[in-house]
Amino acid sequence: MADSKQYGIETDAMTLQRFVLQEQRRYPDATGDLTNLLTSLLTAVKAISSAVRKAGLAQLYGMAGTTNVQDEEVKKLDVLSNELMINMLSSSYTTCALVSEENKDVIQVDASHQGKYIVAFDPLDGSSNIDCLVSIGTIFGIWRKTSEGDVAMSDVLQSGRKMVAAGYALYGSATMVVLSTGHGVNGFMLDPSLGEFILTNPNMKCKSRGKVYSLNEGYGKKWSKGLAEYIRTRKDPADGKPPYGQRYVGSMVADVHRTLLNGGIFMYPATSEAPKGKLRLLYECNPMAFIMEQAGGIAHTGKVPVLDLVPESIHQRSPIFIGSKEDVEECLETMKKFDE
Ligand code: AHM
Ligand code: MG
Repeated sequence: MADSKQYGIETDAMTLQRFVLQEQRRYPDATGDLTNLLTSLLTAVKAISSAVRKAGLAQLYGMAGTTNVQDEEVKKLDVLSNELMINMLSSSYTTCALVSEENKDVIQVDASHQGKYIVAFDPLDGSSNIDCLVSIGTIFGIWRKTSEGDVAMSDVLQSGRKMVAAGYALYGSATMVVLSTGHGVNGFMLDPSLGEFILTNPNMKCKSRGKVYSLNEGYGKKWSKGLAEYIRTRKDPADGKPPYGQRYVGSMVADVHRTLLNGGIFMYPATSEAPKGKLRLLYECNPMAFIMEQAGGIAHTGKVPVLDLVPESIHQRSPIFIGSKEDVEECLETMKKFDE
């Protein structure tokens, strides 16, 4: 018999699908719909990953000649990623409505294909980083429909607390999916030779304190007094402690992933010009907040935990302070002291 070690091949790998199937066993009444939904979503993620990797060759760069609902330039890779997510999810027989950063309105799934889940996603976040080959990602949050009959706005505008599952794919030096179905956080790396996501980071936890702060300092003049004071104390801490390091990729997925792995704090705050910040609640802040809380960290808007905010519209923005428990708490305390 051939020795599997001789070929360097793992014969009993924990794939993402196997992991989710195993989790499903916790619920005797589970229909398998969430597993099917995630399998379809992963197909889109694999295709996006492949497009990102060969983007130059496939001539995917450049403007598509359209703008998205936030009037930002849409690159072709965004369009492709959006189409992949919409097509894979709406044909999975598990979803009834989709919300995408790239679509102005809620996408209703054809009645003959409908299932019970609602998915909000940013198909390709960090699009300003595409051209310079910096890491980008896909973010998604999954809710269950609560009303009877046709999909209602109240189904789509549920708080993050009601999420069934959430996660992101990071297209970095490797492709990784980080997922939570509400029982901790697990990370799966894509093995391109198999086309499968393999469990590489089980039970991910965010340290209670880190050594790095992360935000766009270019907007420093527009911050609140409290935030400016917090950042000042990162650079010049009391009691002779060493200063914090600063890192900012400008792709939320990469910045939050680093924060999850190494600890610290990532912020996209309110500014005097943008009192709600920049990042979108439904498909950027909520999924990241779900992951961070499941990993023992905090995600806050500055007023309430991100997951408690009930959205009023699908593209609503929210400030976010996310990361290690002690770091986020210290930031919130400083802002409270100086801003209220
Ligand atoms: P996008 O959805 O248009 O890509 O914008 C979201 C991105 C986030 O990934 C990132 O955290 C932020 O925008 C960076 O914004 P800024 O350039 O203002 O620092
Ligand atoms: Mg985005």
